Amino acid sequence: MWGGRFSARPDQIMEAINASIDTDKRLAEEDIAGSKAHAAMLAKTGVITPADAKAIADGLDKVLAEIREGKFQFSKALEDIHMNVESRLKEIIGEPAGRLHTARSRNDQVALDFRLWVKSACGMRMEQIVTLQKALLAQAESHAESVVPGFTHLQTAQPVTFGHHMLAYVEMLERDRTRFADAIARMNESPLGAAALAGTGFPIDRHMTAKALGFDKPMNNSLDAVSARDFAIESLAAVAICAQHLSRLAEEIVIWSSAQFGFVKLSDAWSTGSSIMPQKRNPDAAELVRAKSGRAIGSLVQLLTIMKGLPLTYSKDMQEDKQTTFEAFDALDLSLQAMAGMISTMTPNVERMRASASSGFSTATDLADWLVRELNIPFREAHHITGAAVKAAEQAGCALPDLPITTLKSIEPRITEKVFAVLTVDASVASRQSYGGTAPVRVREQIAAWKQKLSA
Ligand code: ARG
Repeated sequence: MWGGRFSARPDQIMEAINASIDTDKRLAEEDIAGSKAHAAMLAKTGVITPADAKAIADGLDKVLAEIREGKFQFSKALEDIHMNVESRLKEIIGEPAGRLHTARSRNDQVALDFRLWVKSACGMRMEQIVTLQKALLAQAESHAESVVPGFTHLQTAQPVTFGHHMLAYVEMLERDRTRFADAIARMNESPLGAAALAGTGFPIDRHMTAKALGFDKPMNNSLDAVSARDFAIESLAAVAICAQHLSRLAEEIVIWSSAQFGFVKLSDAWSTGSSIMPQKRNPDAAELVRAKSGRAIGSLVQLLTIMKGLPLTYSKDMQEDKQTTFEAFDALDLSLQAMAGMISTMTPNVERMRASASSGFSTATDLADWLVRELNIPFREAHHITGAAVKAAEQAGCALPDLPITTLKSIEPRITEKVFAVLTVDASVASRQSYGGTAPVRVREQIAAWKQKLSA
């Protein structure tokens, strides 16, 4: 394609380091869509004849069919997807194929293909996020009243409802979803027609190709158009953040499904056994989701590093943008699907969760709040009194609600029997009705709102 001024073939290693076809063959659909839009525009503006445009479009359809059927012979010598497609087009239609690359360069071509790919991948991840949100929502609905220990420092803090905990992830995922939407909105401008870097002298219509390819408008600056990869970086940031959120849920599943916690049981379909220890049910998928976040985060750092310090406009460094981006999106693809599968089929053990929530003096704050509310004791002092009650319970080897009233009275004489009503885990969660709180009434409201939002 560019051999005119060369008399010798590239070194084998040159070819190996230069070729990107093994990676960028994934851009075949986008490449052909872009070429078809470009050819139609060239005909409309009179740069090529309608007959040539038709031959090009029909030929590209044949190439695409070959690729889809797996019959296409990808060649490393032809470097990348752009030259592989064009070369095959030439074999099929002959001379008109050579007119397709008028007023275009591989620089705007690859910027276009990659942008189209990232945009569509963001859209697919958004749909998968909704599927996972729905799975979490279904668990939330089944367990709006189920009590679990809420943790800080992984130490029992206060009882919460399992539904509330599920909805925390629904919220996180919604921010993840809209981060992709924001990235799409910003990347929705076409680089096609920037040509090599400076634009072109041909009377092209960039608005026409932008519209045909689903963009809002053409990018304003040709130099920026071929140089910009922030659309991919921003999307990788969205991927990395989402993967990091999933890693936290994955970690919780690993903890919850351990014999020591026993809060949830993963279905057989989402557990693996051990070849030596028959009792094992390992949460491998959760562990892998936890680990795959490393890949996503790595990809973001990798692309930032590749792009850092590059002068305008195109440099070959930028060819390394694709593999890492594909890997991150693929990792998130599997992670979102695996997580939806695990969540929708896992069985929470309500009794275990409740027993655990009742241990660890989880309602100590409720006792302190009662002292403030009923006896008008300042919170700091109430905290101190409660500390003494916890110590007494610890020494007696019982839970807070099981302390004899005489013991409580010996700590603070004004305490009455009425205090026991607030020391159960159910009373505790039911009382936390502040907006965004864990009380079942608030959780049910949120579930109703999310159901409406996610079905819209
Ligand atoms: N394979 C190249 C890439 O992915 C396409 C653009 C090549 N442009 C060039 N001037 N060599 O970046």
